[in-house]
Amino acid sequence: MKEMRAQQQGQPEGPFVFTKENMAKAQYHIAKYPEGRQASAVLPLLDIAQRQSGGWVPRNAIEAIAEMLKMPVIRVFEVASFYTMVNLKPVGKYHLQLCGTTPCWLRGAADLKERCQKVLDIEEGEVTVDGKFSLVEVECLGACVNAPMVQINDDFYEDLTPEHLEKILNELADDRLCPPGSQIGRQGSAPEGYPFGEVAPAKKGSTPQKKSEGKPKIATESKAKTKVKQAKGDADAS
Ligand code: FES
Repeated sequence: MKEMRAQQQGQPEGPFVFTKENMAKAQYHIAKYPEGRQASAVLPLLDIAQRQSGGWVPRNAIEAIAEMLKMPVIRVFEVASFYTMVNLKPVGKYHLQLCGTTPCWLRGAADLKERCQKVLDIEEGEVTVDGKFSLVEVECLGACVNAPMVQINDDFYEDLTPEHLEKILNELADDRLCPPGSQIGRQGSAPEGYPFGEVAPAKKGSTPQKKSEGKPKIATESKAKTKVKQAKGDADAS
């Protein structure tokens, strides 16, 4: 309740009303669930309300959602305060969610955070004076293969170095959007340094690797798939 009371500062006056278009989206999500289970739509509705409100969910939106879903207000607030993707206070135009979980941390997330705070001149949880950027540290966002990474609004920026991140922030300061995804040109989550299926360049002084020598990995994959298929077949037979 203490956090809930704190959230009452800076809240908009009056009731929250979904726009016509957003109400249709909300109804679409509610209709997915059987009668009496409408509360299951709470997260999509929070997301819709957040997008309508400029990146955060004010208290009046929580109340409106609670009424629509026939839930106690505190239950909606509990969900909203649990997930880091729901913001309960205003965020910047560009909201940075910096992953600090182990794979990203091992690959330099702390350096990214330090550079970010230095460039933006804010601490974690703050918004820049011009309202353009905000920064929070979050847990794993599921892009560990291309760690370290930062989510900016809806986009993932991966394989970052502090220099990459500074460049991205400078571009965004002028409202120029950098291409999201890997910042080192990695294809999807292919091995670092060369596109999937091709052979890594030979190191100086070593025997050049032939294309055929790069294939055992793929053969191993096929074997693994065959084993899975076999296991499935055995299960189906029994
Ligand atoms: S640990 Fe950072 S995305 Fe998973």
